[in-house]
Amino acid sequence: MNPILQVSDLKKHFPVKGGLFGTTVGQVYAVDGVSFEINRGETLSLVGESGCGKSTVGKAVLRLFPLTAGQVVLDGKRIDDMSAGELRPLRRKIQVVFQDPFSSLNPRMKVRDILAEPITNFGIATAKDDIDRRVGELMDKVRLPRDAVNRWPHEFSGGQRQRICIARALAADPDVIVCDEAVSALDVSVKAQIVNLLQDLQAELGLAMLFISHDLAIVEHMTHRVAVMYLGKIVEVADKRDLFGAPRHPYTEALLSAVPVMEPGAQFQRIILKGDVPSPIRPPPGCRFHTRCPYAFERCRKEEPKLVATGSNHLAACHLHDLPEAENPLLKTTGATAFRAAQLGAA
Ligand SMILES: Nc1ncnc2c1ncn2[C@@H]1O[C@H](COP(=O)(O)OP(=O)(O)OP(=O)(O)O)[C@@H](O)[C@H]1O
Ligand SMILES: [Mg+2]
Repeated sequence: MNPILQVSDLKKHFPVKGGLFGTTVGQVYAVDGVSFEINRGETLSLVGESGCGKSTVGKAVLRLFPLTAGQVVLDGKRIDDMSAGELRPLRRKIQVVFQDPFSSLNPRMKVRDILAEPITNFGIATAKDDIDRRVGELMDKVRLPRDAVNRWPHEFSGGQRQRICIARALAADPDVIVCDEAVSALDVSVKAQIVNLLQDLQAELGLAMLFISHDLAIVEHMTHRVAVMYLGKIVEVADKRDLFGAPRHPYTEALLSAVPVMEPGAQFQRIILKGDVPSPIRPPPGCRFHTRCPYAFERCRKEEPKLVATGSNHLAACHLHDLPEAENPLLKTTGATAFRAAQLGAA
């Protein structure tokens, strides 16, 4: 089966303007060589700290701006070099749900019109009865009452508005949905409901999902695979149970150590990374993570590690994997990884 979305060596650099005349004085290396693919019916989560380039990847696959380099293939067609006109009929196939359900809905449109807009724009239906039927079905899908279509966005709670945003994304009958921090602004209990809804819809409709989140705890139960980003690069990609149960990159290990493990009385050691994330304008040479890595050695400061297989369907970019197994600290099982591995049924 061909992946529905395939991204190869994607780069997006933003110019940094400065000086008296606003000339370009540098580049923000926001996304600097990212590759991944998503199959139909699969969720890939993209996680990492603020500013590592997650939203930029999302916007790039949605073709919201031109790319600096790389390829994006949607359902077998290259879309990275398409003109706006060529792209128009394909836009239906990839839809987005953003973080803020308050600003992403037009306050002057009733829910019916918000949902009817993509249906007519993409030529999915034209007759009024047809449109109304589809709008009703969308309300059922996101579990909102049908008669709520006559209300305005401000009459809904945050969670309900996010359901409307999801319905609007589904209205276009997409193959892929990009969720950019789609639940981050919601209260804990509502967050869980929306995550469950997305998970159910995905299974029911066979959607592919790129789920962008800074929060590993949120993705743990709903994703199939996870890609971890650091300073514009993917440092590790694996199936969920392998990534949570046997992380193979020191950055993933540190991120995971901050995710609470629900085991009474268990003692787990939190890895506190030293320093701040370096600026994406001047990423460190060698491995970008070496300035904060607890295990960095000489080679890490000079040579950039490649993203290579460290297990089946498990890629990591770290020189530690070239060391003999006994000397590789990432292969040691800790209390937390052992617990997660047992919980998720990892080998
Ligand atoms: N339009 C832009 N012009 C210049 N720099 C930008 C632009 N958009 C993003 N950046 C920079 O690119 C880097 C990556 O930003 P991005 O929004 O993709 O990060 P993120 O991982 O989504 O962060 P967050 O978790 O805070 O949403 C940041 O340093 C950001 O300042
Ligand atoms: Mg973002």
